[in-house]
Amino acid sequence: MGEQFDYRSAPDPDMMGDPSGPEPSRRGVLFWLGAGINGLAALLIACPIIGYLVSPWRSGGWQTWIDVGNVEDFPKGQTRLATYVNPYRTPWDGYTANTPCWVKREASGSFTVFAINCTHLGCPVRWFPESNLFMCPCHGGVYYADGSHAAGPPPRGLYTYETRIKGNTLQVKGGRLPTLQESV
Ligand code: FES
Repeated sequence: MGEQFDYRSAPDPDMMGDPSGPEPSRRGVLFWLGAGINGLAALLIACPIIGYLVSPWRSGGWQTWIDVGNVEDFPKGQTRLATYVNPYRTPWDGYTANTPCWVKREASGSFTVFAINCTHLGCPVRWFPESNLFMCPCHGGVYYADGSHAAGPPPRGLYTYETRIKGNTLQVKGGRLPTLQESV
């Protein structure tokens, strides 16, 4: 009678899928399939974490100078609504890439440009020249003509853009949305 084969002590050359060995077993294929799926899941989890960690260095790159309009379109001593096109738009943004803002031109000729969003929850504020106030239709937030907070729930005044005149064109530095931590 021949020697009995003990499967418990037998080596398993298929386990690690040795390419020079015999055909991989079902166990070996499942092992590598599981390892691949786990690696993919780890990569998907790591992507937003890496994005969060590098975002402080990247955020400065989302700002650029944008044309708002000809200087002559804004009479001295008035506040007017203007719209610029967000340069960081995507093809599916459509009309929402058009970003409104309030342009105030002082009697001296200097400009202050306010983001249209209320600093409470972001509703678009409206300018009322009769009362010389910006008012928010959502919860009654009120701002003075210089954008400072006058009444209601907003925690601060309106966000302002950095401005400059290039040739005869008023430009603002914008692109990303303002937050309480970082205005535009
Ligand atoms: S969003 Fe303007 S007061 Fe609330």
